Amino acid sequence: MTDNILQVKNLTKKIGSKTIVDNVSFAVQKGEIFGLLGPNGAGKTTIIRMIVGLINRTGGKVSINGHDLDTDFNGALNEVGAIVENPEFYGYMSGYKNLIHYKRMSRNEISDEKLKETIELVKLDHAIQQKVKTYSLGMRQRLGVAQAILHSPSLLILDEPTNGLDPSGIREFRDHLRMLANNGVSVLVSSHLLSEMQLMCDRFAIIEKGKLIHIESMSDTTNLEETSAREVTFTVNDCEKAVKIVEQNITESIIKNSEKQFTISIDYQSIAAINKLLVQSDIQVFEISSVKKTLEDRFMEITNSAKEVVKQ
Ligand SMILES: Nc1ncnc2c1ncn2[C@@H]1O[C@H](COP(=O)(O)OP(=O)(O)OP(=O)(O)O)[C@@H](O)[C@H]1O
Ligand SMILES: [Mg+2]
Repeated sequence: MTDNILQVKNLTKKIGSKTIVDNVSFAVQKGEIFGLLGPNGAGKTTIIRMIVGLINRTGGKVSINGHDLDTDFNGALNEVGAIVENPEFYGYMSGYKNLIHYKRMSRNEISDEKLKETIELVKLDHAIQQKVKTYSLGMRQRLGVAQAILHSPSLLILDEPTNGLDPSGIREFRDHLRMLANNGVSVLVSSHLLSEMQLMCDRFAIIEKGKLIHIESMSDTTNLEETSAREVTFTVNDCEKAVKIVEQNITESIIKNSEKQFTISIDYQSIAAINKLLVQSDIQVFEISSVKKTLEDRFMEITNSAKEVVKQ
């Protein structure tokens, strides 16, 4: 058995002449919360709908806990619990009755014990006998999760699950997903909010115009900060001379801002090296200031470029 609960390879969707999802590959490990982050229209829902077999793939492979969607569709889908569109409940029935109704319709044997356990897990035990029409959005969301995990799936898929939740609801939901992941469930979740993905996920993929352009791992974010390039401005007494010296030693292009300042895009270690070079060449360095390009900046660039395309 593999530790990759979900494996997506070269997933592609074309509608007419338009490529909506373009060769997307990623894997989700056991107990991992994996995000799909992208602006409106990026293709997140289309990716999810193909994974759960709601729409056909134009190309690519999907395997869920070792079951290939092409050769073992039922086996694969048995491993999945999903909320793709808003889950529909009967408002006039209690949460409990809704779950019982779902349990009766389910292909899988679900014991009463399992039902009780699931209700406790999503922390709805106090309200489960109330009618669903009296539930807050957060409670409905949790009932949706309960329904999705009732048959003990190894993968839970949620499309924009925090839409409409208030900040405390979002926080609660996040803690909730973490608890499920700690219990060994893998989670695939989509959102268009970077901050949310950073708080919620172990890793997330940035989707832009149907393409997966980057996978961010939260555990090596600090590492990334150290190695990623940043814009660094040096203030010196003789910019002309300084630029000449730096040019001989570095391949990155230099922007001369004024008689006293130049800016260069370099990594953390190179800042010290350039400073040493300048000082050794008798240049006076008055100030070194750096502006880090954060993931937020990069994501803003992506979403802005996506908006420009929409405007055209
Ligand atoms: N049935 C369809 N026919 C034609 N185009 C479609 C169809 N379904 C989706 N699209 C297009 O595919 C692109 C991706 O849509 P999708 O719903 O997957 O994006 P999304 O990332 O989920 O966006 P959102 O954040 O708004 O939910 C959009 O440009 C959309 O208009
Ligand atoms: Mg969507």
